[in-house]
Amino acid sequence: MTMHKFILTITAILTIPVLMIGFQVDGWAHSGAKGIVKERMDSMKSIGAQMKKLGAIVKDPQLFDASQVQNSAKILQGHAEKIPELFPKGSNEKPSEARVEIWSDWDKFVSIANDLVKSAVELQTVSADNLKPVFLKAAQTCKGCHQEYRIKK
Ligand code: HEC
Repeated sequence: MTMHKFILTITAILTIPVLMIGFQVDGWAHSGAKGIVKERMDSMKSIGAQMKKLGAIVKDPQLFDASQVQNSAKILQGHAEKIPELFPKGSNEKPSEARVEIWSDWDKFVSIANDLVKSAVELQTVSADNLKPVFLKAAQTCKGCHQEYRIKK
């Protein structure tokens, strides 16, 4: 083997794994960071969609349909239960609107999320007459949490 070929071979052997590792780390960084932020944005959007459906019924009680309310409330509960795990420590890279206070006030943040879980459970058995107060209780958690822990635009 000439010196030239030797160097080329060594370079290839050394470079290929480095490139592969580089690519993987980059891939992880992207799917990891953007992944969880995107995941929770999607989750929040679904929460918003169910609240919109419920809100329409609150406005027009004639639309009340127990199984529909229950269905929305179950979806809401599922998303609300996942809030804590959707906010791993320090995951507020762009374009996230999450405030760092989430992690310094973690117990309070989780307790607001739990209030939403409770309201969502309660919503599963409401009658047309008591949908409104329970709905408002759920809506209060959105407002309360966003005020403290979401960057205002
Ligand atoms: C325990 C805290 C908490 C509760 C409760 C909560 N949210 Fe959020 N929500 C957040 C935070 C923090 C963000 C910003 C997340 C980010 O950008 O990384 C957010 C973002 C959102 C977004 C924007 C998503 C996007 O695409 O950027 C919507 C919509 C939303 N929330 C709706 C709701 C509604 C409706 C409720 C109540 C039923 C609710 N949220 C309850 C903390 C909460």
